Amino acid sequence: MDSILAGSLADAMVRVTELTAIASAEEVGRGDEKKADQAAVDAMRTAFNAIDFKGRVVIGEGERDEAPMLYIGEEVGTGQGPEIDIALDPLEGTTLTAKAMANALAVLAIAPRGGLLYAPDTYMDKLAIGPGLPEGVVDLHESPADNVKALAKVKGVDATQITACVLDRTRHADIIESLRSVGARIKLITDGDVAGVIATTDPSTGVDIYIGQGGAPEGVLAAAALKCVGGQMQGQLVFRNEEERARATRTGIKDFDKTYTLHELASSETVFCATGVTDGDLLGGVRQAGGFITTETLVMTSADGMVRRVSSRRPV
Ligand code: FBP
Repeated sequence: MDSILAGSLADAMVRVTELTAIASAEEVGRGDEKKADQAAVDAMRTAFNAIDFKGRVVIGEGERDEAPMLYIGEEVGTGQGPEIDIALDPLEGTTLTAKAMANALAVLAIAPRGGLLYAPDTYMDKLAIGPGLPEGVVDLHESPADNVKALAKVKGVDATQITACVLDRTRHADIIESLRSVGARIKLITDGDVAGVIATTDPSTGVDIYIGQGGAPEGVLAAAALKCVGGQMQGQLVFRNEEERARATRTGIKDFDKTYTLHELASSETVFCATGVTDGDLLGGVRQAGGFITTETLVMTSADGMVRRVSSRRPV
């Protein structure tokens, strides 16, 4: 395997999400989303700056004038080593963390320069399914009901045996109605669609398809994960106003109506890392007991298709 990402750089990224998760875990259940996010951002930035690489944030905390740290375009790392683009969400699930609810994660993905879509901080319509299915079996522009029927057919099951994961939002009423019309099961999640998309790749979750609108940055992160383990994903940016279109223009988006495939969202090799902050479907959360802190991290590398679960224990 000839990869600038696997090996020590992937291991360094595990450490980054571990330290980020540990810092934000301090804020679990304290009701302060901003403080939890800030703790995660501070820790992630400090951890990046200890690594020998020329890192550039392409999916970050926002634009430079609105995010003092880990803003889009910020350079991180020691400045020695490979040139790497980074998509990050130091705390995916700020509300989940503040309310001590399941499924909060510290997440990042890395790729060689230009390997990840420079998505603006807008919404994205997303559709994802797991690996091993015929290419194009589902389509973002078909109705959820038709997609479930098509998926059920290739899986050799009835549509009532298909489970769709959907963010619990009023904007998804039509999607939910369409899914109900064919009797599909719906797993409603309150937050955290990166984990929702990844769930489609793991048969133990029971999730067959992810449908709905969430953050575009989270869409790129989820695509980076699927790039490593297989699966299909489509995403289309959603603009609510001119300001959001202007954001897209600033990130270099020219075609506002484009439907991105998985390989356009994450076009090159990539490494994806997520560490659990609170316990969740994907990962256990940060625990502190007996003078030690333990973390669980999912690390996936597209160059070899490897998926590792790293359990770490460090003294408090
Ligand atoms: P935060 O961590 O920024 O709170 O995002 C959580 C999240 O649920 C994402 O997973 C999802 O993409 C997005 O928010 C959905 O946005 P909204 O809450 O506006 O529907």
